Amino acid sequence: MNKRVVVTGGAGYIGSHTVVELVKAGYTPVILDDFSNSTKEVLSGLKAILGFEPALEEVDCSSRTELLQAFDRIAAEGTIDGIIHFAAFKAVGESTQRPLKYYANNIASTVHILEASETHNVSNLVFSSSCTVYGQPDTIPVDEEAPVKGAESPYGYTKQVCERIITDFVASGSPLKAALLRYFNPIGAHPSSHIGELPLGHPNNLVPYLTQAAAKLRDPLTVFGSDYPTPDGTCIRDYIHVMDLANAHVSALHWLSEQENACEAFNLGTGHGNSVLEVIQAFEQATGVPVPHNIGARRPGDITAIFAEASKARHELSWTCKYSLEDALRDAWNWQCTLID
Ligand code: UD1
Repeated sequence: MNKRVVVTGGAGYIGSHTVVELVKAGYTPVILDDFSNSTKEVLSGLKAILGFEPALEEVDCSSRTELLQAFDRIAAEGTIDGIIHFAAFKAVGESTQRPLKYYANNIASTVHILEASETHNVSNLVFSSSCTVYGQPDTIPVDEEAPVKGAESPYGYTKQVCERIITDFVASGSPLKAALLRYFNPIGAHPSSHIGELPLGHPNNLVPYLTQAAAKLRDPLTVFGSDYPTPDGTCIRDYIHVMDLANAHVSALHWLSEQENACEAFNLGTGHGNSVLEVIQAFEQATGVPVPHNIGARRPGDITAIFAEASKARHELSWTCKYSLEDALRDAWNWQCTLID
């Protein structure tokens, strides 16, 4: 029988792409999602790619009762081999306006997942973390040993706290093993264009805004600041194709299954940084579509430059990135085109 993996937030952007990669690798995913930041159309997209709709429990992970009952139902069908915990709010700006929303949801959900893992003897947990835990790093590329700095936002603080909660739980003697995956900037979509990023409302992140601006669905893209101390004055990030990121979760599950005890953090990035202007240029080259844009003021809270030292994940998880920045931008555009149709 295939190994069963509970994927919280499995209808979300990174979660849905991970569900595809899990099935491809022979796992049986069970999605837990409350569709608070996704739509049910993702299920049709998954069906188009996989040929079937994955199992789904529609629950809010921050509700202890709902979550524990869902786990009881899933466990009644057989062993749960692992959990990948994506379900969380992730808008940095909103988290500064509504911090309690973020603390209540992101932290409570993680505690409940750990409780469920204990009740049902689940021994493998992959946690969706972020490079935001490094704050404004002292040196780049940033490796996993870099100090976790004072968080720049309530969202970032929830990732730091959840990493700590998981670390403390594993250290308490629990049989649980955990991989804390620190994502850099995931972009792109499944190459089939059946699933992709679906920001509800005004997109805050660069690539979803860029593709909507290129499609003339939005005003021109504003480049947030051109006076940073970088070669072209715009911020530098490590953009990673969402399929490469998804695949790293499968590698992390394999790695966990070979460990006796573990709670390790891994950077998931390409190891290369690109500026905002380079992303615009790469998009135009990859698609031939111009990106209307102008230069605006800096966005408060933005970090000048960050990219990953990603060799730990490469070596220990035996994982590498297969897609280029251009691939990711082309796939993001193809996905955007399906949304216009
Ligand atoms: C941040 C967090 C990341 C988190 C993500 C979730 C850091 C280093 N990164 O990513 O961990 O998961 O938010 O939302 O804290 N930009 C523009 N114009 C736009 C939008 C963005 O110029 O309209 C620029 C930004 O200034 C930035 C880059 O594009 O330099 C990427 O921005 P974005 O996609 O929002 O991601 P981060 O802020 O890097």
